[in-house]
Amino acid sequence: HVHVTAHEASKAVANEIADLIRAKQQKGEYAVLGLATGSTPKRVYAELVRMHKEEGLHFQNVVTFNLDEYYGLPSESLQSYHHFMQENLFRHVNIAHEFCFIPDSDMPQALVKTHCEQYEKKIEEYGGIDFQLLGIGRNGHIGFNEPGSHSSSVTRLITLDPMTRSDAAVEFGGLAAVPRKAITMGVSTILKAKRVVLLAWGEHKAGIVKQAVEGPVTEFVPASYLQGHNNACFVIDETAASEL
Ligand code: GLP
Repeated sequence: HVHVTAHEASKAVANEIADLIRAKQQKGEYAVLGLATGSTPKRVYAELVRMHKEEGLHFQNVVTFNLDEYYGLPSESLQSYHHFMQENLFRHVNIAHEFCFIPDSDMPQALVKTHCEQYEKKIEEYGGIDFQLLGIGRNGHIGFNEPGSHSSSVTRLITLDPMTRSDAAVEFGGLAAVPRKAITMGVSTILKAKRVVLLAWGEHKAGIVKQAVEGPVTEFVPASYLQGHNNACFVIDETAASEL
């Protein structure tokens, strides 16, 4: 879906999420959301916060699973995705803290494998992800599934791609401070979601959007795996669509 502006696109996506939350509320069920970080989804979260404050959208039945987190970064640090989610969504709405799951990256490597397995199990315990929000890296990554990620990959510790680290350098005040590893949901974790919406804005995403949508399905562009999902959609603005 191509929208004229990122703002309009974000509103449309926030409305879809709000409709899901309300529909699940009526049935007395949880709405299980898979959430993304980065600059791209910020406006979707801002719109959800606005709907909470102005339109009475409630979050008591919402369960969230974030895609990823930097490894070895304390969750209190300003660059952590824990911090991002608090600031952009969680602290502004009435979501239960115990329903907000984010990979815990502040642990010794020996414990990571068990943590990742438990993360997968937790998603299944809540009946799987109803709606997965995604951004896209300039190298085609989804979550932190970097080029080379297999379609059957699950939640795991990965090594960040040089392009990903250099794109994050500004936030960390220099490349040297950017973590080298992260924990991410796998490609198969993402593909199991009942609905997947990938967002992209701006000219700098146009090339990779074209490859993901029109190119071959390949591990070299992990977002291209979404071509095989039966309910996935790219919601983009005109500049991100300029090469299609
Ligand atoms: C990070 C995140 C991704 C996100 C990507 C793009 O690497 N782990 O989930 O999609 O950045 O970021 P931005 O939205 O800022 O372009």
